[in-house]
Amino acid sequence: MNLSQDELREKIAALGPWFHNMELNGVRTAPEHFLGDYPNQKFKHFSSAIPADLTGKSVLDIGCNAGFYSMEMKRRGAARVLGVDFDEDYLAQARFAAKVSELDIEFQKLSVYDVARLGEKFDVVLFMGVLYHLRHPLLALDLLYENVVGDMLVFQSMQRGSANVGEVREDYPFFDADHFDAPDYPKMHFIEHRYAGDPTNWWAPNAACVEAMLRSAGFEITAHPEREVYICRRGAPPELPGAVYPQHRETSGQ
Ligand SMILES: C[S@@+](CC[C@H](N)C(=O)[O-])C[C@H]1O[C@@H](n2cnc3c(N)ncnc32)[C@H](O)[C@@H]1O
Repeated sequence: MNLSQDELREKIAALGPWFHNMELNGVRTAPEHFLGDYPNQKFKHFSSAIPADLTGKSVLDIGCNAGFYSMEMKRRGAARVLGVDFDEDYLAQARFAAKVSELDIEFQKLSVYDVARLGEKFDVVLFMGVLYHLRHPLLALDLLYENVVGDMLVFQSMQRGSANVGEVREDYPFFDADHFDAPDYPKMHFIEHRYAGDPTNWWAPNAACVEAMLRSAGFEITAHPEREVYICRRGAPPELPGAVYPQHRETSGQ
């Protein structure tokens, strides 16, 4: 793509506002980001927890936004990178950024609730910064386990509340309720209206809740390289059946 710096600046402005601050041929997409140089700064804290060489691997980036992580995975040699998001404006940014950066990445409009439609499992799935934007977060994790995570899940969620993780027992007697008040017990705060001005912030889990939800959906946490980031492996199927949507063919009664 042969654009002058002025043309590039104009195109980037026309595609904005951007959530991902990336440098495209010397032009920054979101230099005034409220989180600083985001997600560059965050990625530095966990990039080494993801294999440096992804040669031959397939990667799915769910809620890819402008494609920062999709592009980083492609730079690691992944054979195939698919970025999905349900927002066309972000997908347009991602397609442009990948084109300017000469990276062969596929971007598709898809909601996380519809990942079954992809009909394949990926070696690495990124599910970063999406969980707390969903009205049905556990359903999304169940669907990822059932349909797309072949091996590794790279997960991130905003967290609020205690960063401590207490022991969760298998069971508690009915009249034993003190543990619910412990800050390190799994808790997810429901946001009825807005948080940080954003009506799509539905939930704010604490660290114990994030870990419990991942385990409950069948993921085994293998590393916790950054406060909000977890590297997981697909573990044994959860004890109780997970996603009930879309209905399983064998249980649909048809
Ligand atoms: C906070 S951004 C995170 C972007 C990127 N994954 C990251 O970590 O920097 C949340 C992204 O999730 C997308 N998103 C929210 N709900 C979604 C859904 N149901 N299906 C697919 N993408 C969704 C938004 O459009 C947005 O691009």
